[in-house]
Amino acid sequence: MRRNDSAAEKGRAGSGRRRSVFVLLAAALLTLSACGRPTPPAGGSDAAGSAGIPTGGSLPAGSQTLPLPSDGNPGGFDFERRTVLLNSGYEMPINGLGTYSLHGDECRSSVRSALESGVRLIDTASAYGNEEEIGEAIRQAIADGIVTREELFVTTKIYPGSEMADPEKAIQACLDRLDIGYVDLMLLHHPDPNDVKAYKAMERFVKEGKIRSIGLSNWYVEELTEFLPQVDITPAPVQNEIHPYYQENDVIPFIQEKGIVVQGWYPLGGRGHTAELLGDPVISEIAEAHGVSSAQVILRWNLQKGVVVIPGSGNPDHIRENTQLYHFELTEVEMNRINALDRNEKYDWY
Ligand SMILES: NC(=O)c1ccc[n+]([C@@H]2O[C@H](COP(=O)([O-])OP(=O)(O)OC[C@H]3O[C@@H](n4cnc5c(N)ncnc54)[C@H](OP(=O)(O)O)[C@@H]3O)[C@@H](O)[C@H]2O)c1
Repeated sequence: MRRNDSAAEKGRAGSGRRRSVFVLLAAALLTLSACGRPTPPAGGSDAAGSAGIPTGGSLPAGSQTLPLPSDGNPGGFDFERRTVLLNSGYEMPINGLGTYSLHGDECRSSVRSALESGVRLIDTASAYGNEEEIGEAIRQAIADGIVTREELFVTTKIYPGSEMADPEKAIQACLDRLDIGYVDLMLLHHPDPNDVKAYKAMERFVKEGKIRSIGLSNWYVEELTEFLPQVDITPAPVQNEIHPYYQENDVIPFIQEKGIVVQGWYPLGGRGHTAELLGDPVISEIAEAHGVSSAQVILRWNLQKGVVVIPGSGNPDHIRENTQLYHFELTEVEMNRINALDRNEKYDWY
């Protein structure tokens, strides 16, 4: 993923930025897009380049890209490139693969399927215990000519407790396990007594060029308010639990107004909770109206709210389906019907 230096300057400017900054970032990306990026061929077959967009050949059925949603674009997403410009100056794909609970061959083949389906954002964490498999799958895909390192965006996270107590060691261990040169994005997985110290260690790795962007996970309004004044680099994204039954409608605008991108985990409710969410009558009805699946409706709802999605899957058909989010658009009425499903029902403790 390539870098835009003016956006990076903004990212270093500390906290307290407003939506106007976000508009500027979006404008910067538009300018950059106009002068630098490859133009997508007509008919929905996407250009390659560094956008996390599939290279070569035609996209799977149903993957044409519509223009920006008519009901707004709160995340400043580029729906044609399927990316967002982070305040670090790097582009991040707006849909990816989550790898929590994927291990061994299932993990390697899921990453391979995702890369072959055009996914360019892979989300892992030290705590998932699968960084080595992910690194192997990525190196193999690069060797096989499926993707280049520069086209990819790999996220990992360091965990509270002993990792954040000795953050340099934990960060270097992630880099070593992945073994893909640099990490595109590293997050603190949760708040911790040593979180500021750990974040400052990540800042040093950014300066050394070993990590490109840094951010937070499971930080909400109170935690962000306390944390942001203590660090130099504004987090690029914040990754929190977000799905139709737990929408965080108070937290999302708070984060976006600071020029920070919001990323959602458990977009489909997480393992053990997907059946109820995917079978929800409102979501099912909207899915039927558009001729797509409930999963696609939920993922598209997130994108139209400006939330980056990283659905987890070990099923190649699901992985492919979860990339086909750009050929339909939810109406304002449909968005509001899904917004009305919020139950403040969290499926994990953090
Ligand atoms: N930062 C954090 O604290 C945190 C916490 C949790 C998760 N995460 C990240 O967020 C990612 C997403 O969370 P998750 O994977 O736990 O939960 P999820 O994406 O909400 O749901 C995954 C489940 O949905 C199923 N699924 C996926 N696509 C589907 C489709 N198109 N149709 C039907 N079912 C589908 C999967 O089954 P199949 O395998 O059969 O497709 C799997 O059982 C994780 O993988 C991880 O990278 C971060």
